[in-house]
Amino acid sequence: MTGRKSAAIFVSGGGTNLQAFIDEVRAGRLSLDLAVAVSNNPDAAALERARQAGIPAECVLNSDYAERERFDEALASTVDRYRPDLLILAGFMRILTRSFVQRYEGRILNIHPSLLPKFPGLNTHQRVIDEGDRVHGSTVHFVTEELDAGPPIMQGRVPILPEDTAQTLARRVQAIEHKIYPATAALFAEGRLTYRNGEAWLDDRPLRTPLQYPIDG
Ligand code: GRF
Repeated sequence: MTGRKSAAIFVSGGGTNLQAFIDEVRAGRLSLDLAVAVSNNPDAAALERARQAGIPAECVLNSDYAERERFDEALASTVDRYRPDLLILAGFMRILTRSFVQRYEGRILNIHPSLLPKFPGLNTHQRVIDEGDRVHGSTVHFVTEELDAGPPIMQGRVPILPEDTAQTLARRVQAIEHKIYPATAALFAEGRLTYRNGEAWLDDRPLRTPLQYPIDG
């Protein structure tokens, strides 16, 4: 297929990752149309970032739907109006249903603030400090039905300093996220990154271990 690919970005919070995408596209370093930002949180600062950048900002409220399935159906019909090639979860604080994930199989990316498979779930920065680790980071992965367990694509590492708190570490991790997430999306946009039979593929080979940022070549 030829032509520029498009993406829907899912956000619930501050939207610093969304901002990184906006900045990379503007700078001409990422060839991807940011078609829509979708949130479950009407107060998400990320929505304002989208509006400022001229990206349609949509909100689907959890509270309007008694069941998770119905919420995800509403989410899907909102997304489908924009026909995105790629769905980018960037701090979207909702667990998606199996049917939603199946509908977009191989086209959903997530970023998780740890070096997966270490520390899936919440509060990763505090947990990694409590564990006494020296290195932390973030992982971009394809989304599958199992939470934080889809095939990893790219990781960025940061040191953990003796004086770090969860907050200082979070800032360092976010800085690397702003590099690895657009870099991963660029591989998808170029048609180099695909999902086949439960695995991430780069060009003509399966990625048995995630790419480490900065990537070679
Ligand atoms: C990121 O740290 C990401 O790893 C996690 O949620 C955070 C989103 O931050 N999934 P922001 O809204 O992009 O600033």
